[in-house]
Amino acid sequence: MTTTKKYNLPKGYSLMEVLLKTGAFLKNPVNFVQQSMDKFGDSYSAVLPGNRQIMWTRNPEFIDHVLRVNQRNYKKSEFTVGRASDFFGKGLVFSEGEYWRRQRRLIQPAFHRKKLMGLFGIMIKTIQDVLAEIPTGKPIDIYPFMSNLSFKVLVNSLFDISLSKELIAELNQLFDELQVFLMDESNRPYKKLFYPFNGAEKKHYAKSERLRTIMRGIIKERRASNKEFTDILDTLLNSTYEDTGEHMEEDKIIDELFVLLFAGFETTSNTLSWLLFLLADNKEIKEKLVASLKETNINETAQNEYLKATVHEAMRLYPAAWMSERVALKDDMMGEFTIPAGTHILAFFYGLHRNEKLWDSPDEFQPERFLKDGKAIKAKGFFPFGVGPRMCIGNHFALAEIMFFVHAFFEKFDVETTGQIPEMNPLLTLQPNKVLLKIIPR
Ligand code: HEM
Repeated sequence: MTTTKKYNLPKGYSLMEVLLKTGAFLKNPVNFVQQSMDKFGDSYSAVLPGNRQIMWTRNPEFIDHVLRVNQRNYKKSEFTVGRASDFFGKGLVFSEGEYWRRQRRLIQPAFHRKKLMGLFGIMIKTIQDVLAEIPTGKPIDIYPFMSNLSFKVLVNSLFDISLSKELIAELNQLFDELQVFLMDESNRPYKKLFYPFNGAEKKHYAKSERLRTIMRGIIKERRASNKEFTDILDTLLNSTYEDTGEHMEEDKIIDELFVLLFAGFETTSNTLSWLLFLLADNKEIKEKLVASLKETNINETAQNEYLKATVHEAMRLYPAAWMSERVALKDDMMGEFTIPAGTHILAFFYGLHRNEKLWDSPDEFQPERFLKDGKAIKAKGFFPFGVGPRMCIGNHFALAEIMFFVHAFFEKFDVETTGQIPEMNPLLTLQPNKVLLKIIPR
């Protein structure tokens, strides 16, 4: 694709500047993009090798335009629906077009409120079991515990059977290693040249195959069981396509299970970790929250408006999905800009949520802002779960889990800061590098 005069892209970096600044970008992409926007404006462009044009934006109208209003003109990148799907399959996150639409329609009912309510008991019990093992008294990095917790909640909600500790740890590790491998390849494409010699690609295909084998085993066991289940796997096995009345094939079920684990696990553990850090760091807010929790029991948690506002505020400051990528199919217009077909648009949720044109004191943790003017504030540019038809299918699941967690946690513990501020580690999701906190039994 060549960019000719008829296009008017936002100001930004030439190819030469991109090459010179790649090191700085890779070192800290979130800060790099945020600083570039402070320099160029809410949107900026960059030319990548291969004459690929990209545009980063934290403009709320542009993000809404790409992901919702004119979403038919945008598809996911080749990396997502091509390369990543070689390892993770063609589940919702990694598919497009009619295939995606048909799958989404079939899977959506598994996440309806009524179905989710059937999972609340499993969620609460899993959270309480994991919390019983958390070390207290001295500073610990809570991230591995949050990671273990959200993985177990997800696995138990997908398949309500008891998987061994070892198998859960193996699943967790396989997902992690595949993600790190793909992220590394996306950031440093030259690494592909070494695959024939170092066997890295083959090794990771084997990991993906191992994951499929584990899933196949779980499905086989389920089909052989006479028990009744209310988990997500049960819905996937029993739903039928509207058009043919047929059930989903086993390989497709495995792809979708992959995606649910992939999309639901790290996003939630990141959010839990950032949230605990913010509460430990803001004593007054924490105490107000703990007082509010005493007014309801854990099953009524969803009605606690202050808790909801606190969770939203944590997701505003640290959106686990810190950006989302689409590619323009045809030329498009956004405000004063004209965008050529083929442009990669990167919706920068982190920058959107800290855009000072939208938020007062954007870097401060102030849950009250969501109480004052909840709906209006969300509508103007708060997209922690994305927006449009590809919005997160697990948003209610995640919010329920996070709120149950907060309730169960503060029933048993208090949390104190160690003065350390976690660094951001923006992989596919916005991980905290280390979250050193002190957990104290009540
Ligand atoms: C705090 C937790 C979570 C956050 C912040 C989050 C965020 C997001 C975002 C921003 C998207 C849209 C991405 C895009 O448009 O490119 C998305 C999609 C998705 N999420 Fe989540 N998510 C969370 C938890 C979950 C959970 C728990 C599940 C499943 C159990 C899940 C499953 C999915 C799936 C399957 C998609 C793809 C939907 C599609 O393309 O049709 N997510 N998520």
